[in-house]
Amino acid sequence: MTDNPPIVRTVGELRAQVNSWRNEGHTIGLVPTMGALHKGHLSLVSEIANKVDKVIVSIFVNPTQFGKNDDLDKYPRREVDDQQKLAQTPATLIFAPTVETMYPDGHCTGVTVSGISELLEGAARPGHFNGVATIVSKLLLQSMPDIAIFGEKDYQQLAVIRQFARDLDIPTEIMGGKLVREADGLAYSSRNTYLSTEERQIAGKFNRILRNAVDAVQKGQNLRATEKEASTALIAAGFLAVDYVSIADKTTLRQLDTIANGAQILAVARIGDVRLLDNMAIEAP
Ligand code: PAJ
Repeated sequence: MTDNPPIVRTVGELRAQVNSWRNEGHTIGLVPTMGALHKGHLSLVSEIANKVDKVIVSIFVNPTQFGKNDDLDKYPRREVDDQQKLAQTPATLIFAPTVETMYPDGHCTGVTVSGISELLEGAARPGHFNGVATIVSKLLLQSMPDIAIFGEKDYQQLAVIRQFARDLDIPTEIMGGKLVREADGLAYSSRNTYLSTEERQIAGKFNRILRNAVDAVQKGQNLRATEKEASTALIAAGFLAVDYVSIADKTTLRQLDTIANGAQILAVARIGDVRLLDNMAIEAP
């Protein structure tokens, strides 16, 4: 596991490799990423490698999922570093296409998921999930994997992907990968690198505030009061703004009034212009 996994850049090369694996009887997994890989991404590679013979990691900073005020230009791009990190994992192949390969002139088709993709992140970032659904559909059709894995860090993204994969009869199993946290509990994210030392310290309080909210709900506290309390605590901890704290159904992501069957707390808080996402499961009391 120390050789650099080879990089292919065209759909033709990717399909040729996949076909030859299929002819040899291998199963195939896909880990879609936008690169700048950290332990969260690498954990997805290890999780899926337990289930399939060959692991493709795609690296593509997808312009269509960034809004016009988003950080597309400054999004970190570190392919050499990523390839070296993947050499330490069971990754077999890297698919790193260009923007022209994924969106050639004249490309005009998109995948839109209604309902679930309009809430929370969808409301805060209009069009974001259309971009995600379109690129993930393309990646699945290009590589035709048995399994594709997506992190529970982006809980709503995983739910949106499950929805369109089912609706479009895409024959790939969509697997959720566990959320990986740094030592102080901050969820690994490529965007953490934008934080100053002081901001990084504040960011470390996010997960503890959500953990307190989970505990309060489990002790029977009202859900709306708990959401408000968590928002207030985030501002008091030094966050600039809270986009949302929502205690929601695990599947539909609609806000709940009671948690009879368990729930998920999802939140986004901002430091400077960095949006941090986190979420946690709430077991039924
Ligand atoms: P990216 O942000 O690079 O994340 C790639 C995958 O890693 C996603 O499935 C994400 O949920 C997962 N991930 C990120 N941080 C994680 C963490 N701390 N623990 C566990 N998993 C984590 O998400 C995207 O890219 C894009 O939207 C993509 C799906 C590739 C489509 O462009």
